[in-house]
Amino acid sequence: MVKAVVLGAAGGIGQPLSLLLKCNPLVTELGLYDIVNTPGVAADLAHISTPAKVEGNLPDNDGLSKTLKGADVVVIPAGVPRKPGVSYSRDPPVRASANMWSTRIDDKVIFLNLIEMKEADMIDECRDDLFKINAGIVRDLATGIATYSPKAFVLVISNPVNSTVPIVAEVLKKHGVYDPKRLFGVTTLDVVRSSTFVAEKHGNLSLATEVVVPVVGGHSGVTIVPLLSQSSHPLPNLSTTEYEALVKRIQFGGDEVVQAKGGAGSATLSMAYAGAEFANKVIKAFKGEKGLIAPSYVSSEADREGAALLTKELGKEVAYFSSNIELGLGGIAKINPLGKITDAERNLIKAAIPELEKNISSGVTFVVEAR
Ligand code: NAD
Ligand code: LMR
Repeated sequence: MVKAVVLGAAGGIGQPLSLLLKCNPLVTELGLYDIVNTPGVAADLAHISTPAKVEGNLPDNDGLSKTLKGADVVVIPAGVPRKPGVSYSRDPPVRASANMWSTRIDDKVIFLNLIEMKEADMIDECRDDLFKINAGIVRDLATGIATYSPKAFVLVISNPVNSTVPIVAEVLKKHGVYDPKRLFGVTTLDVVRSSTFVAEKHGNLSLATEVVVPVVGGHSGVTIVPLLSQSSHPLPNLSTTEYEALVKRIQFGGDEVVQAKGGAGSATLSMAYAGAEFANKVIKAFKGEKGLIAPSYVSSEADREGAALLTKELGKEVAYFSSNIELGLGGIAKINPLGKITDAERNLIKAAIPELEKNISSGVTFVVEAR
């Protein structure tokens, strides 16, 4: 029996992710929670002829506690996605002063100080600025998890992942229920994109399901570090320019989708696929399947020995880092070291670390300073 829960289940990611979990034969119960539309999504999914019993709740009538009760796996795609420029809310932002824009989300007016940014910087900076809104959403949902399902495996999708994972950790610590082995930042979309783009470079998209590229670091811009030298399907003939372009495409793959959607949000369908794949691995591992390995953004506290090796490779301890994780009955069984990497990859990691540290610190401070 496996109860999977989706928090933010009525959203762009939430709906297809819930569909994929409903189709997962290992899931016997599916709990859906959102601040809007969950009963409709649940009623719709409940007609699909697969074993999972579906329940959808809104915040009223103790909806969050009902949804989380008995949860084995909780996936969190709740939050606001980014859009081109500054408009990452449903209402277009309004210029409030020379360098401040305001927008309205859930009846709260939020001020965005982004207008001074150059268009080119804006797309990636915006993902970080989602922090301002999403941090509060994730903190409140993590409080619910700490209270109603403290033993669940928690898979965080809400951006910025580099900060929202530390936020969940700090909330769980505050409630005395933190088990670092059970908390994961979902970076699978970067892995999925790498497989696709590498298969494309091989001129054979049917390889996409076979290509495995470890992606380490974090989940935004330069913190995303694909280890192409460890690809199951190497590309030995890439020129430096082609290599750099491929790395950039993987690091900024999110921008491609944001721009193509032209204001209608960020990646949802590919993210739902990636989230369902990762959730499936976590579920299979706690059901006893061995040898499951996937990159995920986790705390160094999850495996001190593994993290110590990683620290040696990185040249310093980074509190949260994505590397290949071995999954087991209790969640994170082992943090694997990076292994052999090239000088170019070492430079990418060097560029990622300061950015990651800044993001981690924003997440921790958000909860700790509120105490
Ligand atoms: P969306 O706006 O379509 O859906 C978000 C859902 O969250 C909405 O249905 C909204 O009602 C719900 N929500 C808001 N506040 C909530 C709360 N307090 N409790 C429960 N639900 C709440 O957005 P989306 O496109 O699905 O993206 C969601 C998040 O996922 C964004 O932060 C986005 O940046 C992130 N994302 C992450 C990755 C990744 O690789 N980790 C990839 C794509 C998107
Ligand atoms: C992605 O990588 O597609 C997501 O993190 C969404 C975004 O804002 O880019």
